[in-house]
Amino acid sequence: MRVIHLSLADFRNYAHAEVGFQPGPNLILGRNGQGKTNLVEAIAYFASLRSHRVSSDAALIRAGEDTAVARMRIGVAEREALLEIEINRGAPNRAQVNRNGVKPRELTRWFQAVVFAPEDLMIVRGDPAGRRRFLDDALVARNPALAGVLSDYERVVRQRTTLLKSARANGARSAVEATLSVWDDQLVALGSRIIHERRQLIEALRDPLVESYRALVEQDHGPELRLEESIFGSAADDVSRETTASGTGPDSDVSRETLEAMFRDALARMRAQEIDRAVTLLGPHRDDLTLMLNHLPVKGYASHGESWSFALALRLAVAELLRRESPAGDPVIILDDVFAELDSGRRARLMAAVGAYEQVIVTAAVEADVPGELSWSTIRISGGAVLDGSDDGVSAHA
Ligand SMILES: Nc1ncnc2c1ncn2[C@@H]1O[C@H](COP(=O)(O)OP(=O)(O)O)[C@@H](O)[C@H]1O
Ligand SMILES: [Mg+2]
Repeated sequence: MRVIHLSLADFRNYAHAEVGFQPGPNLILGRNGQGKTNLVEAIAYFASLRSHRVSSDAALIRAGEDTAVARMRIGVAEREALLEIEINRGAPNRAQVNRNGVKPRELTRWFQAVVFAPEDLMIVRGDPAGRRRFLDDALVARNPALAGVLSDYERVVRQRTTLLKSARANGARSAVEATLSVWDDQLVALGSRIIHERRQLIEALRDPLVESYRALVEQDHGPELRLEESIFGSAADDVSRETTASGTGPDSDVSRETLEAMFRDALARMRAQEIDRAVTLLGPHRDDLTLMLNHLPVKGYASHGESWSFALALRLAVAELLRRESPAGDPVIILDDVFAELDSGRRARLMAAVGAYEQVIVTAAVEADVPGELSWSTIRISGGAVLDGSDDGVSAHA
């Protein structure tokens, strides 16, 4: 699929903007702080309903305004669709597809994008929350219906934790037992579904990850992903160990029913500690992902360059998976300021790896950082204004 046109009103630093995009490689050029990331953030919002930079929508609304509007015309094979999102301060967001009102979530069924950004290094180097977000974003991109499962699960964890807190505060443990078991049922049902989906995702990413990593570094370092699931670990000391059930790793063949039974057992064993600490200690919200190269964990062993390559390979593997599975064709590939982070060899290999996607949108401050062999459609921006869009033709970049 491809973005044909983007219109913004009061989005970030854009009072108003009209930008056309071409199939193939598009380059958004402008000095830092001018609004390059803001443009691609608006595009990516349609794919995930959130920013790749901030967790709340409020920052997306232009300072001093109450509503931001982004409207995007997309092409999917021979068809076109018009998507619109209105982001409101202090009121629910509203969405349209082809001028008919829809739930905002519906937008993610229409548009797929994979964003590569400097922040991706934190998937490799940062804390477990970033890796869980990576996994869950990929789950939702593959299957938008899972967004509802993930948000229901988060709500159950919050409410169950509130109950544990009040049990501890009142010292009234037996009184909460009955209520707790209702939340346990939901925690186990939704949590097992998420664990099961993550296992299948890891399985599906295995080969694309190896291929992507090899394409980026031209060597085979055996990249691997391993889930560490808290229901099989010891949360007592806050260490969630890698699954070692029968000596194998997490198995995508284990049925959801079996997972539910294991989850329930683990929860029963943890009951006293959970009430003591008033924390929901087990479940996918406490799980982690270990990234391995040559059988060693990337964290603590890999070089800066290897860590970067792993992060890029993860994004690329998700893009490849979506490309294979989606009836709507290629996801739109967005490279937000990543060339500045990479040496020229990695830049060229990354661009070669995504070059065959239907549309690639790259932001850069310095034209010289961008591999020059391609025929780029260039969009120049400055101070929240588009100086020249690519609507009227393709300008080749030397
Ligand atoms: N909600 C907002 N309202 C007004 N300006 C904003 C808002 N959010 C960000 N900005 C401005 O946008 C600019 C940064 O844009 P960005 O797209 O990140 O730049 P870059 O071109 O470096 O990617 C900054 O000047 C910032 O102050
Ligand atoms: Mg930027």
